[in-house]
Amino acid sequence: AACGGGGGDPADYPEDNIEIIVPFAAGGPTDTVTRLITEPMAEELGVELVVQNVEGAGGTVAAGQVAEAEADGYTVLMHHIGMSTAPTLYPDLDFAPEEDFKTVGLVTEVPMTVIARKDFEPTTLEELAAYVEENADTVTLANAGIGSASHLCGVLMQQAMGVEVQEVPYDGTGPAMEDLVGGQVDFLCDQTTNTSQQISEGTVKAYAVTTPEPVESLPDLPTAAEAGLPDLEVTVWHGLYVPAETPDEIVEKLTSALQTALQDQGVIDQMADLGTAPVAQDQATPDAHSELLSAEIDKWSEVLSGIQAE
Ligand code: MLT
Repeated sequence: AACGGGGGDPADYPEDNIEIIVPFAAGGPTDTVTRLITEPMAEELGVELVVQNVEGAGGTVAAGQVAEAEADGYTVLMHHIGMSTAPTLYPDLDFAPEEDFKTVGLVTEVPMTVIARKDFEPTTLEELAAYVEENADTVTLANAGIGSASHLCGVLMQQAMGVEVQEVPYDGTGPAMEDLVGGQVDFLCDQTTNTSQQISEGTVKAYAVTTPEPVESLPDLPTAAEAGLPDLEVTVWHGLYVPAETPDEIVEKLTSALQTALQDQGVIDQMADLGTAPVAQDQATPDAHSELLSAEIDKWSEVLSGIQAE
């Protein structure tokens, strides 16, 4: 489907399909969250939202492309916590999150789960920590590239365990999950939006959730703190962005469509099944999104100082 109406009058926006860019491979958690909201958003906007997966470098390739896109409202970026870790992890980043984008609103904050291939020896998080420490030079930890949420959780997990292991980057945790289920990689920290089904089907081994409280849809999983890794706490917030010069009138229409989608019962139910929930309406706003982005850039610059992409 063609996208983009060129420099039309913001009052008439949208007059054509809108491209929504997912910075990771199809089938992963970012893709899943995006496809959950595109239909109800499209209903309100009266055009199609066409999902485009643009992989690479933990989401920074896609973000760089959207930063340079026409500011006409026909290119929207879905991104997550990785937008706030990129400035620290990529010293020569070709975009500045707070200058090159306008925020549209937050979408959802997703818990993460520590999981392993089904026949991995350790059965508890404590046993995993001990096993990983003993076998640090052979175990393999999957992620979706430096700057991804799975990379961030992996960094925090290694810090909490006091080890450094070999990381195996994928273009998304959709493909990473395929290798984990296939036994080609040992363990992974990934979002419940991608792991809930595998956990309930028993095709992977699950150790803990990375939230302070248990996740209702995964009642058998302890929190990392309960299971002996109190420093492993991370959730993956997601938001929508447009290029910085996009007219406010266009942003307002996108924010309104986002808020409508987050109140859609189907979206609420599907997110609940996947261990998450829409943000509150007052968080699905440009200001709330910008405030969180700014605070998170500062927070992760501390935690991740010294860890940088080559
Ligand atoms: C991440 O690790 O950042 C995401 O899970 C990647 C993805 O959405 O595939």
